[in-house]
Amino acid sequence: MPPVPAVDAPWPILNAQLFGDVMAGGYHLAPRPEALPLDWTAVFGREAPRTLEVGFNRGRFLRGLADRWADHDHVGIEVRRRYAWTVAQEMLAAEGPRNAALIWGDARLLVPALFGPGTLAGVFINFPDPWWKRKHAKRRLVDESFAAQLSVALRPGGRIWVKSDAALIADDIEGVLRGEPRLEGPTAFGQDDLPLSYRERKCLAAGLPITRYFFTRRPE
Ligand SMILES: C[S@@+](CC[C@H](N)C(=O)[O-])C[C@H]1O[C@@H](n2cnc3c(N)ncnc32)[C@H](O)[C@@H]1O
Repeated sequence: MPPVPAVDAPWPILNAQLFGDVMAGGYHLAPRPEALPLDWTAVFGREAPRTLEVGFNRGRFLRGLADRWADHDHVGIEVRRRYAWTVAQEMLAAEGPRNAALIWGDARLLVPALFGPGTLAGVFINFPDPWWKRKHAKRRLVDESFAAQLSVALRPGGRIWVKSDAALIADDIEGVLRGEPRLEGPTAFGQDDLPLSYRERKCLAAGLPITRYFFTRRPE
């Protein structure tokens, strides 16, 4: 990987802060205890409602959301370094958006460590890896435990937004979220309600149907 370029804009990946080394990240790595609780107000330089995108991949959606929801701060977690670093390089070159921050890491491990109860205004799960084979089903992102973690981190009225072109996966996630007592839904939403992700553009170009719904965190 190329070294972090010396420009005035801040390096948008939080890994050095969280793990003690800019080159540390990925699956199975927990933040250093001394990095917690992470001071998000210091990270973004302001106090604003905060959202999370899980698996930002090429960062198209995250940057679009940062632009569209400029009064929110947005955290993206991506487990694959290649994508996390590429998006970081692009954000450095563009010197923004400043209301987005990246983490190269495993969202399933990081959510409870980084987001206290009731601190997220929204969570975005766009086209998660399908892991079609039955024997790989346990690798799927949204299981009961992750659904509970996300629901605890959401503030009342906050939403988990889901998009997928794989009907089986959309149904699977819907079933898991229906079983989470802190949530109500699903509610369908439209193509224009949120920015398009990279995968979503591809699916639209190919004429594939896309399922979109959100679940809402119930009041306490
Ligand atoms: C099929 S891609 C979808 C990419 C993008 N959201 C889109 O709509 O174009 C799924 C992404 O989720 C990432 N991912 C899978 N499990 C993850 C995890 N536990 N934590 C963070 N990212 C994860 C993958 O590395 C991959 O980049």
